[in-house]
Amino acid sequence: MPLLIKNIKGLAGVREDNGLNACGKEMASVRIIDDAYLIADHGIISDYGKMSDLHKVINTNHQKDFRIIDASGCFVFPSFCDPHTHIVYAGSREQEFADRLRGLSYEEIARRGGGILNSAKKLHETSEEDLYMESVKRIREIISFGTGAVEIKSGYGLNTRDELKMLRVIKRIRENFPLEIRSTFLGAHAVPEEFRNDREQYIGIIINEMIPSVAAEELADYIDVFCDDGFFTVEETERILMAGLKYGLLPKLHASEIGNSGGVQAGVKYNALSVDHLERVGDEEIKCLAGTDTVPTLLPGSALFLGLPDPPARKMIDAGLPVAMASDYNPGSSPSGNMKLIMSLGCIKLKMTPEEAFNSVTFNAACAMGISETHGSVTRGKAANLIVTKEMTSFYFFPYAYGSNLTDKVILKGEIYTPDLQDQIE
Ligand code: NIG
Ligand code: FE
Repeated sequence: MPLLIKNIKGLAGVREDNGLNACGKEMASVRIIDDAYLIADHGIISDYGKMSDLHKVINTNHQKDFRIIDASGCFVFPSFCDPHTHIVYAGSREQEFADRLRGLSYEEIARRGGGILNSAKKLHETSEEDLYMESVKRIREIISFGTGAVEIKSGYGLNTRDELKMLRVIKRIRENFPLEIRSTFLGAHAVPEEFRNDREQYIGIIINEMIPSVAAEELADYIDVFCDDGFFTVEETERILMAGLKYGLLPKLHASEIGNSGGVQAGVKYNALSVDHLERVGDEEIKCLAGTDTVPTLLPGSALFLGLPDPPARKMIDAGLPVAMASDYNPGSSPSGNMKLIMSLGCIKLKMTPEEAFNSVTFNAACAMGISETHGSVTRGKAANLIVTKEMTSFYFFPYAYGSNLTDKVILKGEIYTPDLQDQIE
């Protein structure tokens, strides 16, 4: 039965013309229809408009049987797209958080075998079943905050068996949950301890063993490399990306978080879907991204959590780039997948306007995960993945009330999300 949402105070993120992405100045506008309705049918947005026109639609449709949501006083948004997460992981790392507060740096912790290698150890000791059950809790949590599409990376396996274990868990989540998922192979997240003196051997395993196995089981859409100081060099990154491209894995890169790594240039060279983090980029990298299809994806949660400099979002937008934002949900640098908070941080820390921040967590985020044809805006024919907010005085209230959960209902594929009804845990 179709779903009718009526009396919507503001239907935000309406886009008739899909376009490639929202660049620079275009990010400043969000189309909002006041006093609106929206109809979802067979999981798709089939119609929307002014309440004053609803009677025409209902009459012509001969359709009286709707499930109805009365959204008086509330806004309806496209659900968030989160284009960069590591949500499948084992355990947590609050001890490292406490160590950092006492003065150790993220890099020092990593050099001592903590950080990514610590998560890899925990993941190695966790069964595929337990990893799935742990990850499911986080998936349910991000849905409750309003995320309707998420990219998930491997990268805590760091050997063929455990990387495949992670990717199979992602596949199982994709099959069992109604949110949209893209999967990214990140074998080049860190060099494991045992290859510290022979990193070339580990890179060989990524190229000759992991990538072909991942491709054979069709477990990934994209490939990522942590191209940064102390992790993988530009030359190593390029070799890994080329190996992935042979199997059709498009690049998405971690770049310029710790140093100005050259990862942006490498990403652009290999036509990456996105280059992510970018806390240390300069004018040259911004110039390099201009006019390309590579989406700069900023992760203000990890900049906040690690005390990194904020990425130059304003400069990027003023240079005409299509900025996206993501949560980076992971146990080390950003243990939160709250995209509403990310939207607020975009405003508060990165000096984006509410409209720019909104576009960066919806439409541009969909572009950064390669799903903008079907997600990221209120457009006829796109997936009916939507948020119905609690009552709000205005659109600006959403990022302003930065600590409140203002998501009242989550709609995925045209259905109101109720965890136990829609998920199939098995
Ligand atoms: O995006 N920077 C690299 N990878 C993750 C952090 C991983 C971790 O600390 O576990 C990130 O911040
Ligand atoms: Fe990351």
